[in-house]
Amino acid sequence: MAKSQKLKVLVPRAEIRRKVREIARRITRDFRGEHVHLVGVLKGACVFLSDLIREIDLEVSVDFMAVASYGRERNSSGQVKLIKDLDSSIEGMNVILVEDILDTGLTLDYLRRILEERRPKTLRIAALLDKPSRRIVPDIRGDYVGISIPNQFVVGYGLDFGERYRNLKDICALVPEPELNEHGHPKHTP
Ligand code: PRP
Repeated sequence: MAKSQKLKVLVPRAEIRRKVREIARRITRDFRGEHVHLVGVLKGACVFLSDLIREIDLEVSVDFMAVASYGRERNSSGQVKLIKDLDSSIEGMNVILVEDILDTGLTLDYLRRILEERRPKTLRIAALLDKPSRRIVPDIRGDYVGISIPNQFVVGYGLDFGERYRNLKDICALVPEPELNEHGHPKHTP
């Protein structure tokens, strides 16, 4: 059983910066001459959204939502509950849902459904990271995706483990370290 964990850089800050700029360029091109409304999903997306908004060369407004998720690890009955709604109407707006990571897809599936009912002009999804191997909702995909990653637990750049590590500049994998015996060697499990 691993007791401690160490961090291994998976996506260095320079690559994050490149991907954020690339996503912002695509959004700027796709919505030229229009207003876009970014909806950040708290808390993880706050760092990505803060960098993204400054790279978009359009008229932009921002709002936030927060959700709580249950049962995501175990099965497809994972439930999502809204704990903070938008401050204002999105009717007729170009809305971009901004997420740090697209994992099972349950969060974005839920948010997409409730936001579509509010009749935005367009509704797109921007996700810095995508873990396609974990997808439970098959038809969820990001319109603007930065980096596809393997099924590793990642932290940093907004992503947390028990609320820690959100402030790391790089995206890191959390790697379990083996428990050591009294001689400093890894303990062997039978
Ligand atoms: C993470 C992440 C996404 C969601 C993606 O949020 O920020 O919102 O999970 O996972 P899904 O595709 O499996 O639904 P988390 O619930 O960890 O909350 P946080 O953003 O406050 O850290």
